[in-house]
Amino acid sequence: MLWHERIADIIKNAYFKAFNQEAPEETLQMIEQPPDSSLGDFAFPCFRLAKTLHNAPNKIAEKLNEAIGENNMVTTETKGAYLNFFVNRKAFANSVIDEVISSKGSYGSSKEGEGKTCCIDFSSINIAKRFHIGHISSTLIGAALSRLYAFKGWNVVRINHLGDWGTQFGKMIAAYKLWGSKEMVEEGGVQALSDLYVRFHEESEKDNSLDDLGREWFKKIEDGDEEALSIFEYFKELTLKDAKKVYDRLGIEFDSYAGESFYNDKMQPVIDELQEKGLLVESDGAWVVDLSDENMPPCLILKSDGATLYATRDLAAALYRKKTYDFSKCLYVVAYEQDLHFRQLFAVLKKMGYDWVDEQMEHVSFGMVGYEGEALSTRRGNVIYLDDLLQKSVEKALEILEEKNPNIEDKQLVAKQVGIGALIFTMLQNNRIKDIDFWWDRALNFDGETGPYVQYTYARCSSVIEKGSHIDAAPDYSALCDDITMEVLKALYRFPMAVSDALFRNEPYLITRCVTDIAKAYNRYYYEQRILTDDYSASAARLLLSRATKEVIQTGLSLLGIETPEKM
Ligand code: ARG
Repeated sequence: MLWHERIADIIKNAYFKAFNQEAPEETLQMIEQPPDSSLGDFAFPCFRLAKTLHNAPNKIAEKLNEAIGENNMVTTETKGAYLNFFVNRKAFANSVIDEVISSKGSYGSSKEGEGKTCCIDFSSINIAKRFHIGHISSTLIGAALSRLYAFKGWNVVRINHLGDWGTQFGKMIAAYKLWGSKEMVEEGGVQALSDLYVRFHEESEKDNSLDDLGREWFKKIEDGDEEALSIFEYFKELTLKDAKKVYDRLGIEFDSYAGESFYNDKMQPVIDELQEKGLLVESDGAWVVDLSDENMPPCLILKSDGATLYATRDLAAALYRKKTYDFSKCLYVVAYEQDLHFRQLFAVLKKMGYDWVDEQMEHVSFGMVGYEGEALSTRRGNVIYLDDLLQKSVEKALEILEEKNPNIEDKQLVAKQVGIGALIFTMLQNNRIKDIDFWWDRALNFDGETGPYVQYTYARCSSVIEKGSHIDAAPDYSALCDDITMEVLKALYRFPMAVSDALFRNEPYLITRCVTDIAKAYNRYYYEQRILTDDYSASAARLLLSRATKEVIQTGLSLLGIETPEKM
């Protein structure tokens, strides 16, 4: 932001000089960075000033330009309604590199979130189901956001709102009692539980007394029957043990696994409150909150048999989180299919009189993940499991490494870093709402805009730095003033803004995009500039640029959850 601020000051002074009044408050925000450098490194569009100054925008630009006159940090020129700024390149290079290197890995971080808490509900898997690709986006987006908020000084509470309540668990226990055993489940894991559940469905079509049995077991869970609870707890343990293997591989941890069942004893007060506030109305024996004034279907709170619903639990969860964590933000990283659910949830909370909802709660929704051109559905048996996907990704990365760099040290580790990195990168490459179609050859391509490409750039920086480790001359920044080098510097300069925007919009892909831009700019630089020459002062400056690039790529990738091998 340093240069934005510097330029804003120059504009403000010139504005006062030219028009004898204060420049608009949003001067800083009006400064742009033109994609085409021939139009300046920074630009100030004057259209919006025309009205207050009763003058044509291009005339305003000219007057400002005149008022600025000579300045040793920038030169200016006008182009139509734009006042374009060309920075003093040597000073720019020096300041960007200094800033990156002196912040020791925290370039782009800030303390703006200090004292504030952000709850992030993500991954939120379902018990007794294997971790499948349907939960990958929530897991990766949520984890990236949790790192991002922490990087900006927030206190982050990572919540895995487990799907651990519902009549299906009664059926599952019934099936387990009928056909299952500890040994079988021990061996087959969560898959064995799903298989039992499938079998239950098949057999209950022939024998409908089974459904009653399922209901009985569910009733037992509800009533706190010891056997039912202990079997259910066992299912939960098993699912989490499996899921934790995936979380470990991805470097993800949670602060809370309070899932749906955690709210069993916390819903009655919420139902009472809805009642007291006159919001509960009866509808066909069930109890709902009417949302017709918001053009939404009613939010179902209690079924006619008194059972609570997903929404009832989420209401209790929201209020519990507010009370327990006193959050300033509460994010729900959940697929767009649940848009209506969250709109209803927020609307009901607002009707209850909670005025923090609009500002603090947000449904961070995202699109679907497809696989090699096919839509995925659990029902058609067309499921991709996350542990398989991670495994395959690592294997494929290993194959590529064998081919490209067979003698590399720590091959297994690097394959793991590259394979998993490729997967994460692909998932966080586009804005959230866009559907993703995952293809192996695209994800693992070393040349396209991929994880391996950016990781490779990082390794390239490392190797250049190592080659130049004998150079200890003072850097001469005038070696960093050509157009190609400027593109690297500008990309590095933009990184903190990308981080801020990513947080503001809850869009990790803005970081993915920024590190990709940095990698592209650096690779071009690498091909067109000789970094190590006989001119040690110039080499020292170019090495510093490589070091800054390396550090920013590492920071950016680590926010996404991607590791950076030194060699690959
Ligand atoms: N378990 C749910 C599912 O798989 C997601 C839960 C999201 N979080 C929440 N508070 N509703 O669809």
